[in-house]
Amino acid sequence: MSAHDRGKLHFSAKENWLNDPNGMVYFEGEYHLFFQHHPHGMTHGPMYWGHAVSRDLTEWEELDIALFPDEHGMIFSGSAVVDWNDTTGFFGGEPGLVAIFTHHLEREGQPALQTQSLAYSKDRGRTWTKYAGNPVLKHDDYIDFRDPKVLWHEPTSRWVMAVACGDTVCFYASPDLKEWTFGSEFGDGIGSHDGVWECPDLFELAVDGDPARSRWVLLVSIGDAPAVEEGSRTQYFTGFFDGASFVPDAASQAVRWLDGGRDNYAGVTWSDVPKEDGRRLLIGWMSNWKYANLTPTEGFRGAMTLPRELALASTPSGDTLVQRPARELERALVPLLELADAPLAAAAEALAALRLDICLIRAVLPAQSSFVLEVRKGAAETTEIGFDAKLGQLYVDRTRSGRSGFHPQFAGRHAVAAEPADGRIELDIWVDRTSVEVFACGGQAVLTDLIYPSPGSDGFSLSSEDPELQLPSLRVFALEL
Ligand code: FRU
Repeated sequence: MSAHDRGKLHFSAKENWLNDPNGMVYFEGEYHLFFQHHPHGMTHGPMYWGHAVSRDLTEWEELDIALFPDEHGMIFSGSAVVDWNDTTGFFGGEPGLVAIFTHHLEREGQPALQTQSLAYSKDRGRTWTKYAGNPVLKHDDYIDFRDPKVLWHEPTSRWVMAVACGDTVCFYASPDLKEWTFGSEFGDGIGSHDGVWECPDLFELAVDGDPARSRWVLLVSIGDAPAVEEGSRTQYFTGFFDGASFVPDAASQAVRWLDGGRDNYAGVTWSDVPKEDGRRLLIGWMSNWKYANLTPTEGFRGAMTLPRELALASTPSGDTLVQRPARELERALVPLLELADAPLAAAAEALAALRLDICLIRAVLPAQSSFVLEVRKGAAETTEIGFDAKLGQLYVDRTRSGRSGFHPQFAGRHAVAAEPADGRIELDIWVDRTSVEVFACGGQAVLTDLIYPSPGSDGFSLSSEDPELQLPSLRVFALEL
């Protein structure tokens, strides 16, 4: 089964377990993607940092394991930066890579100890040396103290760390990544506290592309809690950060989620993407702690989402985070079908003639009527991507999408608010072997969901409550690398 379950455009480890993306950094032409990895097992276990690189965010080469557990514990999540000015003194005046990660130490009869540590590489991430002074940061008050995300804060010329502390985020600052000073704690009384806070990220983004109107974005992943139907998911805040504290905007009083699907967790962004490029690139772990250890793949378990570009758009409900797949992925598109101003019947007939298990559907539909587009359709299976015009919601329904009995809460329908522009819903549906990712309404409505259809379920269908529906545009692409 395993070849049919490995996404073509989605990174997964060659073998065994993968969870969070870690240490993403761009250096000397390579995007590094480290990841939480259990190289000897198919479930979460003693954690290592696996490693992959890509020159184009599309094709990934898995390299040797980067970080191994040691006397301070397993290697939990964290980040990496380019130390351009050798502030650490690790590199003899040259730039080099530093990873800042959590050591997780299991202890007999006591809660595990989580501390923050460093490792560095002088050879473009191929080999790593742990810092002799590890750990560099401890905290007595928090059992959950993990997932440091470090950035260089230009205005104060210091490193800043955002790190999860129970169900808040703490900010620290440092001149050299070794000595850290506490700045502030954020999160009390704001946001979702459905579960433990994990994997924060903090970055500045221009609003509507205007750097004069930039805001800071704080991403916080929220762990699974048995009573929470959605499982683990990622929320975000917008606000201002001065190098020590984060002050949320009014819009952040409402809980805002990064994704309306179930399978985009622990997402963080790349460091050191060149200024000329200017993009804020995110990748998430395409799973959910609710059932991550049970998903029905063989030989490997866990994959990343498509890499995505983030932007802030001003909307009536405040500055809103929008996402679209990294533009590099467009090179995989092979046009197969193109219809403009097509009546529903003609579009449905053209779609019904296609058979594809990996594709992109790029459609524009009128928002007055509900419609349903089905993908990965077989005799007894289908995945629905639908728009409910009355509720103004876009949804993915994976109730009948294939193998789903591995967890009682896997099957289901997941919806997100969709704000039509000019009376239209524009949507991109990226379908891979075991996933659908829907990006609609300028990237404001996003749904990422795993599905496990049979390999032969590769049909489509389109229907609407309005038989007279006219589609402004429908395009289908195969995806080839
Ligand atoms: C998030 C997380 C992190 C932790 C890692 C352990 O999915 O729980 O908080 O560092 O996974 O693998």
